[in-house]
Amino acid sequence: MIEQLLKQYPLVSDQVDKKELRLVLQALERALENTSLGEIVEFGCYAGTTSLFISRILQAQKVPRQFHVYDSFEGLPEKRVEDQSSVGEMFRPGELSVSKKQFIQNYKKAGLLLPQIHKGWFENFSADDVPKKIALAFLDGDYYNSIKKSLCLIESRLVPGAIIVVDDYTSEALPGVARAVDEWLLTYPHKIRVEYSLAIIS
Ligand SMILES: C[S@@+](CC[C@H](N)C(=O)[O-])C[C@H]1O[C@@H](n2cnc3c(N)ncnc32)[C@H](O)[C@@H]1O
Repeated sequence: MIEQLLKQYPLVSDQVDKKELRLVLQALERALENTSLGEIVEFGCYAGTTSLFISRILQAQKVPRQFHVYDSFEGLPEKRVEDQSSVGEMFRPGELSVSKKQFIQNYKKAGLLLPQIHKGWFENFSADDVPKKIALAFLDGDYYNSIKKSLCLIESRLVPGAIIVVDDYTSEALPGVARAVDEWLLTYPHKIRVEYSLAIIS
């Protein structure tokens, strides 16, 4: 089904390519097989490129799992020292800003049911904003603090067999991502596999 969807539908932004998207969707299918319950979360949904495909899989398979997306819809926050990179200077506060309205329009255009949309800075979300059980978490917040906070919000909610996928783990321009993941793994040891730019943690 993944190949058919990738062939049939366009990507609505350049924030993910087909190779990465395929890996995220394969992780989703595996997480759904591994678990009998648990919801799906995406931290950093932007225009919804990955979200739309996640929704297509969930709706095509008639999987009764809720899907939650989180974003400031105001783009990136300030960098911290952990994010500094001479090749990452294009990432500035407010970069990658897409409105919630645009995200919803992309869903309407695709004829898909909306996920639960949580608008705000990850740092301001609390445990109450996150599902009690999570089967798949896709973390695409680009920066040290954004990834750290997403991991902190989900870590106690992962069901056995859950998978975390983190984008930009190998990105030279976004060094804070690997730093946040590696620090988290010291406290929460998990298996990690790296493919293209993704860390796949199970
Ligand atoms: C690379 S884009 C996400 C791309 C998206 N997953 C896709 O598939 O197209 C990063 C997103 O993370 C959001 N973001 C980053 N840090 C954030 C934070 N601390 N709080 C809220 N949103 C954040 C930005 O607003 C941006 O939309």
